[in-house]
Formats: sequence, C-alpha cells, structure tokens
Amino acid sequence: MATEVSDLLPQIDRSALPAHVAIIMDGNGRWARKRGLPRVAGHRAGINAVREVVEGSAELGIPVLTLYAFSVENWKRPRSEVTTLMQLLKEYLNKELENIHRNNIRFRTIGRTDELDASVQAELDKGIAKTSRNSGMIFNVALNYGGRAEIVDAVNRLLRNGGKAAADNGGITEEHFAQYLYTAGQPDPDLLIRTSGELRVSNFLLWQIAYAEIWVTDTLWPDFEKRHLYEAIIAYQKRERRYGGLEPAQMTIEH
Ligand code: IPE
Ligand code: IPE
Ligand code: MG
Repeated sequence: MATEVSDLLPQIDRSALPAHVAIIMDGNGRWARKRGLPRVAGHRAGINAVREVVEGSAELGIPVLTLYAFSVENWKRPRSEVTTLMQLLKEYLNKELENIHRNNIRFRTIGRTDELDASVQAELDKGIAKTSRNSGMIFNVALNYGGRAEIVDAVNRLLRNGGKAAADNGGITEEHFAQYLYTAGQPDPDLLIRTSGELRVSNFLLWQIAYAEIWVTDTLWPDFEKRHLYEAIIAYQKRERRYGGLEPAQMTIEH
C-alpha cells in the first residue's frame, strides 16, 4: 500500500472532506518507554505531531480540527507530569502562535480552562484573542476537558439562561441544547482519530461524536505525521455512512 505523502494526497477527494476532525492524541508515554526515556520526553516529542496535523489539516482545508490535550481525568497523574504538560502547552503556543496566525487559523479551547494555572490561561487568552478575527480553520484544543463535564456545564448554563421557561414551552430540542456546548456553532466531528491502538473514547466529545466515523491506528502519537492524517481521511472517504437508514441502493428495492 502506498504510504508516501505524494501517493496519498491525490487519493483525497477535496470535495468530501470531513467538516471536523477530532483526535485523541495518545501513546506519548509508551513512545518514551520504548526508548527508555521518561514519560515527559514522549509529551515533548508529541509536539511535532501536533504541528504536523495542524499544518496538514489547514493545508487540506479541513474546517475544524480538535485535539484532546488534557482530560479532566488527567489530573490523576503525578504532579510533575501535569506541570510539564502545562509547561509544554505554553511553550508550544509561544513558538507556534505566529505560524498559526499566519495560516489564518482560529485558535480556541474547549474545557474547563478557568481551572488551569493563571499563566496557562494568559497564554491561551493571548492565542485566542490574536487569532479571533481569522477566517480559516478552527483549531480547538481540549484542555481540562471531559465530555460529561461539558454536558453538565451545558445544562447549568441552560438553567441559568431561562431553562425553566424553555421547559414550560414544550422543552428544548437537540439543536438548542447543542448551542450550550463548548463547540456551539461548529459542525460535529465526522472523523474521530485515536492513536496508539486503544479502542475507547475516554470521555471525549460524547455528545458530538454520535455519528463520527472512528479510525484507530497503532502509531504512537509522537510518530504521527501528515501521511497518517491522509490515510485516515482516505479511509473515512471509503466508509458508507447510513445514520440509521439504509444504503441508497437498498432504499429502492421492494421488500
Ligand atoms: C497522551 O499520551 C497524552 C496525554 C494524555 C496528555 P499518554 O501520556 O496518555 O501516553 P500513554 O497512553 O501512557 O502511552
Ligand atoms: C485520553 O488519553 C486523554 C487525552 C488524550 C488528553 P488517556 O491516556 O488519558 O486515556 P485513557 O486513560 O487511556 O483512557
Ligand atoms: Mg494514554
């Protein structure tokens, strides 16, 4: 099978790109262990992969990219690992913001970022403000993110914003509810990628991935390159999405 970028790119149908690609970046620790390095070396190496997918997605014209960087459950890790992850996030932004901006990308975050260290929040706010008037790809970084936390946050916001009145008025719709999620106004992921082989969603975008196509690779996150993104999109474009219905040919057959 062709695996070179130059072989893969022409196989992508630019008129049928996923509107939103969401990635569970996993396997940094295993990447480091394989090399006899501390786990944080894996996180550092993972930054290259972030650069690859941000660039690769923007070049293709993917409208929304969401990367899962830190879950609400990741606080259970050793304090030193959490501190390093936050430090790396700041470093990444410091180094890449100019490039992100130049590529017309809109940087955003999803998650309970108000619980992050003030210095991290300041860096994030800078990135969001600088790129807010751009018109290209939306790049969401999920930080202190949990799918259940997001739904609970949405319910609480709804209650504060006239939820009772809405309930008395016949209840709310799915569309209305989605406006209270962190991803309000954005399309749901069409493609969910997870690296390093784990077959679970780990509390990521629970509402939004209802009909996402899932693509899992054994490649560890620090080894993920543009060609892996292209492979995922090519595989996605070969899938038949039915949304609970039937394939078109079956619809015309009398039973
Ligand atoms: C993903 O890599 C990065 C984060 C969750 C922050 P891991 O750190 O989970 O790597 P493994 O799963 O231990 O290999
Ligand atoms: C999911 O990876 C969270 C992120 C990628 C940020 P984890 O490594 O935390 O997930 P589990 O623990 O294997 O489910
Ligand atoms: Mg992991």
